[in-house]
Amino acid sequence: MAKYPLLFSEGKIGSVTIKNRVVMPPMGTILCGPDGEMTDHLIAYYSERAAGGTGLIITEIVTVEYQFGKALASQLRLDNDRYIAGFSRLAGAVQKYGTKIFAQLHHAGRQTYTNFTDGKQIVAPSAIASKAIGIEPRALTTEEVKELVQKFIDAAVRAQIAGFDGVELHGAHGYLINQFLSPHSNHRSDEYGKDRLRFTIEILQGIKEKCGSDFPVIVRFSADEFIADGINLQEGRRIGAAIADAGADALHVSSGTYESMPVIIEPYMYKEGWKSYLAQEVKQGLNIPVIAVGAIKRPAKAEEILSQKKADFVALGRAHLCDSQWAMKAQSGNEDTIVTCIGCMHCIDSIFSMRKIECAVNARTGRELEFQEFKKDGMGRKVAVIGAGPAGMEAARVLKLRGFEPVVYEQSNEAGGQLIPGCKPPDKEVIKWYQNSLLKNVEELNIEIKTGVNAQPQQVKSNDNPYAVIVSIGAKPIVPSIIPGVNNENVFNAIEVLNNPILIQDKSRVSIVGGGMTGCELAELLSNKNCMVTIIEMQSELATNENEITRTAMLKRLEDNKNIQILTCHKLESIKEDTVELENLETGEKKQLSADYTALSLGLSPLVNEIRQWKEMFDKTFVVGDAVFPSKVAFAIRTAFDVAYTLS
Ligand SMILES: Cc1cc2nc3c(=O)[nH]c(=O)nc-3n(C[C@H](O)[C@H](O)[C@H](O)COP(=O)(O)O)c2cc1C
Ligand code: SF4
Repeated sequence: MAKYPLLFSEGKIGSVTIKNRVVMPPMGTILCGPDGEMTDHLIAYYSERAAGGTGLIITEIVTVEYQFGKALASQLRLDNDRYIAGFSRLAGAVQKYGTKIFAQLHHAGRQTYTNFTDGKQIVAPSAIASKAIGIEPRALTTEEVKELVQKFIDAAVRAQIAGFDGVELHGAHGYLINQFLSPHSNHRSDEYGKDRLRFTIEILQGIKEKCGSDFPVIVRFSADEFIADGINLQEGRRIGAAIADAGADALHVSSGTYESMPVIIEPYMYKEGWKSYLAQEVKQGLNIPVIAVGAIKRPAKAEEILSQKKADFVALGRAHLCDSQWAMKAQSGNEDTIVTCIGCMHCIDSIFSMRKIECAVNARTGRELEFQEFKKDGMGRKVAVIGAGPAGMEAARVLKLRGFEPVVYEQSNEAGGQLIPGCKPPDKEVIKWYQNSLLKNVEELNIEIKTGVNAQPQQVKSNDNPYAVIVSIGAKPIVPSIIPGVNNENVFNAIEVLNNPILIQDKSRVSIVGGGMTGCELAELLSNKNCMVTIIEMQSELATNENEITRTAMLKRLEDNKNIQILTCHKLESIKEDTVELENLETGEKKQLSADYTALSLGLSPLVNEIRQWKEMFDKTFVVGDAVFPSKVAFAIRTAFDVAYTLS
């Protein structure tokens, strides 16, 4: 019997049969043309996911009104008949794999910026600014609201003409439809305010009337906005029931608005599938299918959600960015090779900074056209890969696929590099899953990793005489030797402590110097050992090296943690046996803090001498990952992939 029988059973949304329960939910990509045109790139991007076995793809946001409706620098559109042809190409490209495709119809309302609306004032149900945007919108007139209802209906008709299997209304995440649904943002006194559901239901029923009752419409909505005076779960259930009653074919249950961003797209610390309870609550008493979404990463969790009858379909967004073959691998029992999402938010960062979509762990995402088939011209040539962190393993994987013979050396006894300490803090098990998936992929390709070997250039030259060398040796922790006491016995660097938490006794007083993300995570780990921790940071804020969504979630956790104290604008002056001396950078005041231990979390610096030695020994030496510039997984994977892909 198949391992995931429910996940790979047929399902139905309205009249449409879907070959399995795996849904790729909408994710903006900015792979469209500058004016919202369909592109070859989008077709390649979605086709790959369809070829990977996914049952239903719901496209990224497609605006129904280009000037005011966009939420991104450029966005797909169906506001004019001239876009139908492009959509029909996409539909055909996806459907040839037996995958169904729906278009997500969208209008941003107040969650956009004037630089996306040609400088014109943004619009909303009421003239209330989103705190996340900070721009006051203009309230739409009743006439304009009616026109917008029609625009949604017209866009659905165009999707149907293009051959789409259905549409999804984007009524979630604080965009226009959500703004009408929510008591937080809809203070209108006309019929669209007296009945907050009216806008959605008029669109829904208008589509049914124009496209026919057998053209399925999914409504995606936030069953809990997680904001004061917004939609709570009780209201979410009422909304779900009313929309189902009005003729929706399925509900796609998400949460949040831009004001509660971490519950829309969850950073790593959210538990896998944490918000499937929302789908379960909404589903009660309804007789249409419900789709659950949110940090669902592994097939076992997806199957569990289905088996517990929390939902009828499971949507995995970022999982599809990390591994386009997620469904196929799960179905064929190769789930261990699925490259797991690490919840790092690089993807959303990339589109919010107006670049196209990127994924930290999949260097091809958003570059499908630039990096198509791997050239198989390695001809068995040996390439020494020095260091088996993510960059080294990725380089080895790509080289092997190209027909090279990578030989990987790893100084420590375990492959994984920074992923090893990286998975130790609380709620970071995703990093371990990712490490395991890298190892599994390397193993499947029969790539040997020689662990416990401190490879030296001369030795590699005589043993392997490699065609090229890839230096992925990582970086070393920065220790400011100028500070008195940094070499004391009670001083460690953050990586040492993460790797070996018993270095610090339970219940001791610890000062962590450096309040970047690593320092914050270490503080949480030590807090779990009942230590009293103080994070000392020179800047006025913590975790400034982190994306805003993760940072917001982390700051909230630190604030709620009674064992952790934060001292920003303070500089470490010296370390003594049981104190650290600090200077307040704002007042110049000196301060002493009791500390049994000090952990330095001041970042990493490249191993310049070691790199030079490799370069001196081998003409074809390529440096990748932290060895080039200590950064995040995204940079490590990208540099490694690019070097291995282009090696000639
Ligand atoms: C890069 C990116 C773009 C997204 N764009 C959309 C979108 O266009 N429409 C939408 O409804 N949700 C969008 N989302 C939210 C996802 O559909 C999904 O609900 C969310 O990522 C949580 O699911 P996941 O943990 O499986 O990724 C986006 C998420 C990401 C990461
Ligand atoms: S960029 Fe990070 S969060 Fe986004 S899909 Fe890739 S691994 Fe997941």
